[in-house]
Amino acid sequence: MAKTHTILDLKSSKADPVVEIAARYNNRPDALLEILHDVQHELGHVPESSLPAIANALNISRAEAYGVATFYHDFHLKPTGRHVIKICRAEACQSAGGMQVIAALEKALKVKLGGTSSDGRVTLEAVYCLGLCPMGPAALVDGKPKAAIKPSTVDALIKELV
Ligand code: FES
Repeated sequence: MAKTHTILDLKSSKADPVVEIAARYNNRPDALLEILHDVQHELGHVPESSLPAIANALNISRAEAYGVATFYHDFHLKPTGRHVIKICRAEACQSAGGMQVIAALEKALKVKLGGTSSDGRVTLEAVYCLGLCPMGPAALVDGKPKAAIKPSTVDALIKELV
């Protein structure tokens, strides 16, 4: 016998937020990027476990959803820290001392590039050119550009992240 839902059942059932987000875009496959952005905005990251539901909603393969979510470095499949430092590893910043800045950040945060500090405060990520090459080493700190970072200014930069 098929199960029937009362109106109360439907109102009280909590819909998957990812499915709701996809529905906002009428489950259009060409809206995959917007959907991933909204999922990240609302959940703080794009849980890997959400990708099958997104793929189903858009009628695309799981591989396609996974491929797009992992191709763009701005999508985080795991939760990030409350703050995100994206430090440039491209050539101009490296020649301006970027690797020393990265080493100083890793030491101060006690985390390797790509990781999150144990207190969950800061995620440290690599990016490849922010368009601030003449002012390197450069970074994005919570989305705000910072230029001419030096190993000696790393502690002050981290202290700003209260
Ligand atoms: S190389 Fe770092 S901003 Fe361009």
